[in-house]
Amino acid sequence: MAILPILKYPDERLKTKAKAVTEFNDELKQLAADMAETMYKAPGVGLAATQVDKHIRMIVIDVTEEKNDLKVLINPEIIEASKETKPWEEGCLSLPGIYDKVKRPAEVKIKAQDLDGNTFEMQCDGLLAVCVQHEMDHLEGIVFVDHLSLLKRNRICTKIRKQKAEAAKAAKEESN
Ligand code: NI
Repeated sequence: MAILPILKYPDERLKTKAKAVTEFNDELKQLAADMAETMYKAPGVGLAATQVDKHIRMIVIDVTEEKNDLKVLINPEIIEASKETKPWEEGCLSLPGIYDKVKRPAEVKIKAQDLDGNTFEMQCDGLLAVCVQHEMDHLEGIVFVDHLSLLKRNRICTKIRKQKAEAAKAAKEESN
């Protein structure tokens, strides 16, 4: 098992559209295990392969407090979405320290494959619905801030630049 480096916004690679998984082999299982370990360590409730620079359609999710309900979704598709939408304050491991409200369908039904290639369906609501839609966006090259207004996104970019400058300054002071 290994902790994988997570791409940070606005890294261009986060805009890559992921390809369908066609081979359900040991390499895929290893990547899923590494992604789960990376997500739990962060800690986060979801991680898309895109975020670890692997551009295939696989996401890992665990929204439980006990961290004992890992879901690996391969080639996920939304087959039903509720008309009712709900705003939810979202965050992302690719944008540490950034949170904002995004409105999405409150409930979704998805179809996906497991690590052996078996197809299953899953009804999602609450945080799980938010998380599934957020992670599926990553596979399309979309991050949650892309759903926000340009004004808000500009503010976030300024904040990220400041964070980077402060981190660089702190590192410099430490080395002096
Ligand atoms: Ni994310």
